[in-house]
Amino acid sequence: MKVIGIVGSLRAGGNTEFFVRRALDRLGEEGFETELVHLRGKSILPCLGCMECRDRGGCVQTKDDFEPVFRKMVEADGIIAGSPVYFGSAVPQLMALLDRAGYVSRQGGRRLFSGKVGAPITVARRAGHNFAFAQLLLWYFVNDMVIPGSAYWNVGLAGASGARDAAEDEEGLKNIDHFAANMARVLRKLRG
Ligand SMILES: Cc1cc2nc3c(=O)[nH]c(=O)nc-3n(C[C@H](O)[C@H](O)[C@H](O)COP(=O)(O)O)c2cc1C
Repeated sequence: MKVIGIVGSLRAGGNTEFFVRRALDRLGEEGFETELVHLRGKSILPCLGCMECRDRGGCVQTKDDFEPVFRKMVEADGIIAGSPVYFGSAVPQLMALLDRAGYVSRQGGRRLFSGKVGAPITVARRAGHNFAFAQLLLWYFVNDMVIPGSAYWNVGLAGASGARDAAEDEEGLKNIDHFAANMARVLRKLRG
């Protein structure tokens, strides 16, 4: 079984990557195949809202990097979407991917994400985690996915410019570990 962790940050070696990697490391220890998928260096244009995907079975925008990332999402059993918090929201590059993936996945009576397991992780310096977390949870829910709970929300406290190091957020990391253990259990029950 495979779990992918999508990193919405465009910063190399950033905090979101740190927390998403932590979840994947734990899942790797539980025997799952894992892959980190960066949006950094990729161009993913926003959804045009043209609705063409309902008839043609794919997105009309074929010249960017959407399709290969979408394929990885479709092939995965579990999806973790990580985002830095920008002004209380998930970052636009991640939302562009999720908007298009959500619509393309359900054309022609299909729901390609049905039964997949996953949840978001949001990372901020100080505040706004839960707004972005809730924003992303809505995407999981409406795409017929199964969301494992945890003992807290999947939020990491860390700022850019050395304001606070992600590795110092011991409580956040413990919560990510707890979430990953739950995700492993749910994956085994539902898709093993
Ligand atoms: C445009 C912008 C907006 C931000 N807005 C918030 C915010 O609303 N709340 C907060 O606590 N941190 C905010 N931050 C800080 C980032 O969320 C924080 O540095 C995060 O760790 C960056 O993650 P990354 O290293 O994965 O890119 C903002 C940063 C930028 C660049």
